[in-house]
Amino acid sequence: MKFSSLFVFCLLKLLLFSPASLQDPPDILGVVGGSVILSCSYQERVLKPEEINVFWRYNENIIVYNIEKGIPSTKGQNGMFQQRIKSFRSEYPNGNFSLRLSNLKLTDKGQFSCSIPGVFTKHKVRLLVRAPPTTVPTTASTPVSDMRSSSIKDQADGIVTFLIAVFLFCTILEYFDCIAKLCFKLCL
Ligand SMILES: *[C@@H]1O[C@H](CO)[C@@H](O)[C@H](O)[C@H]1NC(C)=O
Repeated sequence: MKFSSLFVFCLLKLLLFSPASLQDPPDILGVVGGSVILSCSYQERVLKPEEINVFWRYNENIIVYNIEKGIPSTKGQNGMFQQRIKSFRSEYPNGNFSLRLSNLKLTDKGQFSCSIPGVFTKHKVRLLVRAPPTTVPTTASTPVSDMRSSSIKDQADGIVTFLIAVFLFCTILEYFDCIAKLCFKLCL
């Protein structure tokens, strides 16, 4: 079994396809206290005002923002987004239903989706929020260390995911190697 050479091959492969490219939805990177644009754009055709029903959700079912018949609504909006969401009403006629999420918090990390039922299937945006660069490097106050520990946790999550990916990838490669060898023997 030439597992070691396979392993090297795996590592090379994984270096070429960096872990970021394994993540499906696009990532937006925000910084605590800053803001990001969560984009949602429909350009196929111009929608009639009564067709402009846009539903923004966080992690599948938490209400972020709704646009009903072209009118923005914060009805049912989860408290975590209160006073932090802005849509661009003058952009609706251009099919631009993007939101600005401001005063970012680490807990905003997650998946935002925008859907326009009957018109546009779900569009997903993955948001990551990083702690701001430390301005006072010497004395770490409690909130700063909180941010650090949770960003270390994120990193640990990333590493675990990465290792699982390596393991699965190598297993699959080994399997194909087996099949190739078998075919080779049968052909001879
Ligand atoms: C939608 O509008 C926002 C706010 O003006 C802007 O930042 C964004 O680039 C627009 N997106 C598109 C696709 O035009």
